Amino acid sequence: MLPHIVRHSELVTDVALLIARKLNSRGQHLDLALVEAGALLHDITKTICIKTKENHAETGGELLTSLGYPGVADIVRQHICLDQGSSDPNAVTEAELINYADKRVKHEEVVGIEERFQDVLERYVKKLPGLGARFEEVQLETQLLEQKIFSKIDITPEQINNIFS
Ligand SMILES: [Fe+2]
Repeated sequence: MLPHIVRHSELVTDVALLIARKLNSRGQHLDLALVEAGALLHDITKTICIKTKENHAETGGELLTSLGYPGVADIVRQHICLDQGSSDPNAVTEAELINYADKRVKHEEVVGIEERFQDVLERYVKKLPGLGARFEEVQLETQLLEQKIFSKIDITPEQINNIFS
């Protein structure tokens, strides 16, 4: 992995674990070891995919499945787009949390989801206009996921920025 992707992954891990601990103190049942592994490994194949142009969520999931880690694989596979129709309003899953935490970390900085999506828009969507509709959907899904997560804990999305600034 490129060093900046390692540092990005470590920061995503810190954000994910912070939120996971808050959620667990309010009655959720997140597996912290799985959160940590999924967050650290979410971009495991991103470096190689910069060359191959493959989807690094798919190839990362396949790699971890082949190594015998189906639970971590499932999180990595869903870190860009969550599977549709599986969200439980009462429970936050490890996959949802890592998907969200990754969207809070732009490169190596904790930001709001609007800023992160603006960056994705500039870097990818404007070059590939076909992505536009899906991009809007993912943005909406992330807003709903943020509302779900923060409805269960006593801090706000903005306070996460302050903790890491
Ligand atoms: Fe990624």
